Amino acid sequence: MHGVSKLLALCSLLALALPALAEVGWWRTAQFYQIYPRSFKDSDGDGVGDLNGITQQLPYLKEIGVTATWLSPIFTSPMADFGYDVANFFEIDSTFGTMEDFEALLQRAQQLGIKIILDFVPNHSSDECEWFKRSAAGDEEYKDFYVWHTGKVVNGIREPPNNWISVFRGSQWTWNDERQAYYLHQFHHKQPDFNYRNPKVIEAMKDVLRFWLRKGVYGFRVDAVPHVYEVEADENGDFPDEPRNEWNNDPEDYGYLDHIYTTHQPETIELVYIFREIMEEIDAELGGDDRVLLTEAYGPLDVLMQYYGNETARGSQIPFNFELLSNLNNNSNAYHYSELIHNWLDKMPEGQVANWVLGNHDQSRIGSRLGADRIDAINMMLLTLPGISVTYQGEELGMTDVFISWEDTVDPQACQSNEEEFAHLSRDPVRTPFQWSDEANAGFTSGPNTWLPVATDFNLVNVKRERSIPLSHLNIYKQLRSLRDEPTLKQGDVDVTAISPNVLAIKRSLSGYSSYITVINVSDDVETVSLDSVFPLLSTKLRYVVVSDKSIRRTNDETFANSVLLLPKEAVVLSTI
Ligand code: NOJ
Ligand code: MG
Repeated sequence: MHGVSKLLALCSLLALALPALAEVGWWRTAQFYQIYPRSFKDSDGDGVGDLNGITQQLPYLKEIGVTATWLSPIFTSPMADFGYDVANFFEIDSTFGTMEDFEALLQRAQQLGIKIILDFVPNHSSDECEWFKRSAAGDEEYKDFYVWHTGKVVNGIREPPNNWISVFRGSQWTWNDERQAYYLHQFHHKQPDFNYRNPKVIEAMKDVLRFWLRKGVYGFRVDAVPHVYEVEADENGDFPDEPRNEWNNDPEDYGYLDHIYTTHQPETIELVYIFREIMEEIDAELGGDDRVLLTEAYGPLDVLMQYYGNETARGSQIPFNFELLSNLNNNSNAYHYSELIHNWLDKMPEGQVANWVLGNHDQSRIGSRLGADRIDAINMMLLTLPGISVTYQGEELGMTDVFISWEDTVDPQACQSNEEEFAHLSRDPVRTPFQWSDEANAGFTSGPNTWLPVATDFNLVNVKRERSIPLSHLNIYKQLRSLRDEPTLKQGDVDVTAISPNVLAIKRSLSGYSSYITVINVSDDVETVSLDSVFPLLSTKLRYVVVSDKSIRRTNDETFANSVLLLPKEAVVLSTI
């Protein structure tokens, strides 16, 4: 046999003998963790979290099994939207530290085997960004970097060019005296939208990506993707009005209009493919592990699936799957859970990887949204479903939303409303300081104040205490993490089914290895289920691998597969024997 063919034959033999571990790119089974830097750990006592705080606590991320962490924006910003209003895309804001601090963070993360992912905000900058200032001044290079319009004159009075409403209430157009024109902002008036119909903007953004990748980050969470493009202006430079949503009667509210011209424009998908090319350009330049894109888009599933790519282009490896986050509620039954999980699994293109996002800095926390007694169940689901898990800081502890009064509210989305409405708009309740211990200010800062109030239950819900309680949320999370090392969890098939309105079951299986079944009783009833009738070929007996404090069973106990007893809201992971 020819030498090369011998080698090939040997390789294919090996491939048959071993599960395809080599093909598993790091991100395909990764456990992602979102850090909201203002609230993770404060190292200098000013009451706002910072980079050195994160570096100090990287061993904690290691402890809970995090593969990669994405950081909400750390760039220079006047903080009108707490960093989502970037004034300089290449600089670290002094609130968080210095570039040296960031480099030290990267270095420590590298030593610990944790990848750092940055937030990339392509849709807008701050109005204090040099690019915007130059655009407003009419500087040749930057004048078309943003979307400008002189507006219309009605009865001698100047008005915005059309009816578009911003996500944070009111018109999307704000007048700029210097330029004598309105600029477009889909979010806050201090967040002017870039003009993506200008190729220079795309080039500038590619340079932002290259800059941070070359520093050593492994990719980006891409912010507000559906908003990046607006419909193309007509031959007069005008934009059409958006149609009304009849169900909404508040003309200042974002929901008043159907955003057919300002979200999900077809060019947006292409732009994600262009950004992915930059990941691959740097993969080729620097070698090493794959750089990844995690795209933030809420929208119809058929649109979201296109973010993965098509026959000719690769896209985002991780288009965030918000199905569970956006649709589950306190009253959801097991059929609803199953349906939402299937929505993604069944629609996902061949060869792609699923991801499961259960929380972020914009959404009510799991314990508040779905019930504090479902926290372990949700984490079991998150960490045993196939593919990528994404945890928002504090969800591993079971932190819940913190009530913040109107006086203490700082989130612009809430501040731009009023005292009656703010509570359901405010994102402050999920952004409060991380709870490290029962010391003052939950061990978040050594200073006297914190930028948002600390939760009142911090002496019960904190890392230090939960480490010492065997079946705390934290320890269950850590057990689930160990389980994720099992080949079945990494590469196995999945079968998700609602056994009854009350019980959801997720079976993972891989030929030659034990199967694992996550069984969740979402209800307040005691349930007995027969698993071998839903999952044929299961062993007669099953072993408890992960239990929660609701369980009367303990780890390593056994049960008959045809009669598994579940207490109210109990969730367990079982394995075949
Ligand atoms: C989505 C971010 O997650 C949110 O926090 C922010 O306010 C908007 N994008 C605008 O950047
Ligand atoms: Mg835009």
